[in-house]
Amino acid sequence: METIKVNLINSSLEERKKTYDLATKILKNGGLVIFPTETVYGLGALATDEVAVEKIFKAKGRPQDNPLIVHIGDDNILENLNKYVKEIPDGSKALIKKFWPGPLTIIFKKNDILPDVTTANLSTVGIRVPSNLIAKELLNYSKLPIAAPSANISGRPSPTTFKRCIEDMDGRVDLIIGYDNSEIGLESTIIDVTVTPNEVLRPGGITLEDLNKISKDVYFKGNIRLKDGEKPRAPGMKYRHYSPKASVSMIRITNKDYGKLIETVTKDSLLIYFGEIKELENFIAFNKENILGKVVHFKDEIEGSKEIFEVLRQADDDHISSIYIVETKESGIGLALMNRLTKASGFTTIEI
Ligand code: TXA
Ligand code: MG
Repeated sequence: METIKVNLINSSLEERKKTYDLATKILKNGGLVIFPTETVYGLGALATDEVAVEKIFKAKGRPQDNPLIVHIGDDNILENLNKYVKEIPDGSKALIKKFWPGPLTIIFKKNDILPDVTTANLSTVGIRVPSNLIAKELLNYSKLPIAAPSANISGRPSPTTFKRCIEDMDGRVDLIIGYDNSEIGLESTIIDVTVTPNEVLRPGGITLEDLNKISKDVYFKGNIRLKDGEKPRAPGMKYRHYSPKASVSMIRITNKDYGKLIETVTKDSLLIYFGEIKELENFIAFNKENILGKVVHFKDEIEGSKEIFEVLRQADDDHISSIYIVETKESGIGLALMNRLTKASGFTTIEI
């Protein structure tokens, strides 16, 4: 398949409208369109078209039991939402008002207009109203509901740049729309409002602290490993995820035995840490010659979240064989960051 690529960075409204016309035509004809969002890039099909949605699973190599998020525009938001869901629980209205458009996916009971393949036979659907300029304009302009997972080959880190979308999906989709790198860099927060208390199924761009300001009735069970045979409430969370080819391990600093890093961070490895860890910084500075691997330091968890998937992908390009990531605070976006990283590591932790 020939993939059309359009980069809308610095584009005029006229150019964008031309691209939205093309995307609308492709989607209505059952094709696939990749588009930017504020979290990660999405691989979209018309959510009500069963055959088109099946193509998403094929293009990504995604397991059929992993439901898709349906994206809608923010024009007449409640009216629009009502087309796809059975009810809008009263408790969810404040969340909608505060966080849409934005990186929050809300799980509702679904309407029959959405085929079973879109929601992997669940009776619920995750709806998201993105805030990214291109995503928002495309959804409002086309007036279509777009089912879209992250635009990566299943299992790989989600793409946050135009280039990575092309790398994974050239020849597999009809159109790739490029724009800025994703602002947040981690996927949306998912909250299920069909249960009481409302349950966060995946932490993301909207933090637990943000949610708690609006509702005290929010539960998250934490970034913990599932027991054998246990099913996560967001089916996709059970798969190997966010993983580069390199082996990934978390580093927990308990004894401050930084000397161990010299044995660990060898030539083909990468050490990543977030925020100010003065003693670690000093150790690295004093042992420049002994620490042979690469070191990436992010100023905080926000910057780390924005860049992490790209750094993991770059590590593969650089043939890095082992990645060591120093655990960070599970507050704010740090909770989502640690969620993705502990998964990528398969919950492997080294204490130093
Ligand atoms: O930020 C995002 O959410 C990005 C952009 C493109 O919008 N999308 C995204 O989609 O991350 P995906 O498919 O990579 O992740 C969707 C997650 C999966 O873990 C899936 O199991 C869960 O959402 N999910 C979708 N519908 C669900 C439902 N009805 N009930 C429970 N979990 C659901
Ligand atoms: Mg994904």
